[in-house]
Amino acid sequence: MTLNEWISSVPVYEPGRPIEEVARELGFDDAAEIKVASNENELGPSPKALDAMAAAAKEMHRYPDGGGFYLKKKLAATLGVKPQNLMLGNGSNELIEFLGHVYLQPGTNLVMSECAFVVYRLVAALFNAEAIAAPMKNFTHDLDAMLAAITPETRLVIVCNPNNPTGTINTPEEIDAFLEKLPDHVLAVFDEAYFELMPAEAQADLLKHVRAGRENIIVLRTFSKAYGLAGLRIGYGVGHEKLISALNHVRQPFNVNAMAQTAALAALDDDHHLAKTREMVFQGLELFAEKFPMIGNGLEFVPSYANFILVKTGNGREVFNDLQKRKVIVRPMNGYGLPDWIRITVGTPEQNQKVLAALEDIL
Ligand SMILES: Cc1ncc(COP(=O)(O)O)c(C=O)c1O
Repeated sequence: MTLNEWISSVPVYEPGRPIEEVARELGFDDAAEIKVASNENELGPSPKALDAMAAAAKEMHRYPDGGGFYLKKKLAATLGVKPQNLMLGNGSNELIEFLGHVYLQPGTNLVMSECAFVVYRLVAALFNAEAIAAPMKNFTHDLDAMLAAITPETRLVIVCNPNNPTGTINTPEEIDAFLEKLPDHVLAVFDEAYFELMPAEAQADLLKHVRAGRENIIVLRTFSKAYGLAGLRIGYGVGHEKLISALNHVRQPFNVNAMAQTAALAALDDDHHLAKTREMVFQGLELFAEKFPMIGNGLEFVPSYANFILVKTGNGREVFNDLQKRKVIVRPMNGYGLPDWIRITVGTPEQNQKVLAALEDIL
């Protein structure tokens, strides 16, 4: 049996652990824990999406609409682009992998930031390409450093905005300047997984470049975060028609399931749920910013523009374990080279209070 030789060195993604698994391991008889480890929406899916899914359940003997006609039509109208500018994915993670299929091979590289979403590295490794990590400034993408890291072999430069796990952003002005200097041989990938949760004034309109016909940019978004549909796996990319057409060559015929398409369509109609979610996140971030300095000797944190926050607790792995014993699951940050930090998803007010109480207890 002969494997592709590089496959065994591709790291396996370590997801936040399911609540049930942690409960079983620690011997809790209930699963009533707080999982604030994966930046999910703690309000759950939109009630409109739940209703639409219940109604759609009896059609699940049918294959999905492989072209995602209705969802693309609705997204196109909402975003002011054409359906041909849109690509649906089984989560935005799948779209990152598609980009690997289309652009990466041995000898090529992608440029990312040293502390950005780990899947970019995994996808580079999957295609036996190099991931070049540019230094950051103040936990924020240094776009000039990223430009400087580009080589003739660079195919993708990935800007995660807001960035996971730091929650930091680049301003619309910084991004415009970056795009002006970007060489034509490189595709700019803007991962906007948390876009809908940003304050309006921080949201850069990158789709204007797609509308204007620019070829070397793609914007990735997801229904997993603000829309609370992570379990269904659905995201989308917006880019030039030629690029979308290339991505279509590497997908399976039914890569996005029917339930996900139904729920996403309904979720787009639920402005109320989105507004409630944004409000919950803004209030939670404010609460953490107010309380962290009062815990222990004052906890350092990185001001965030997404539904999570990076906080320096010292020995993140140990704090993670201690929190787990108190039925709170967060994410330690060793994997990101930040062993003294943990990342906490903003939850409901009650969840946030419990997280703070558990932290106070430990620290
Ligand atoms: C920055 C970023 N991009 C992409 C994803 C993947 O999202 P999806 O559930 O759409 O695959 C995540 C999920 O945590 C993320 O944080």
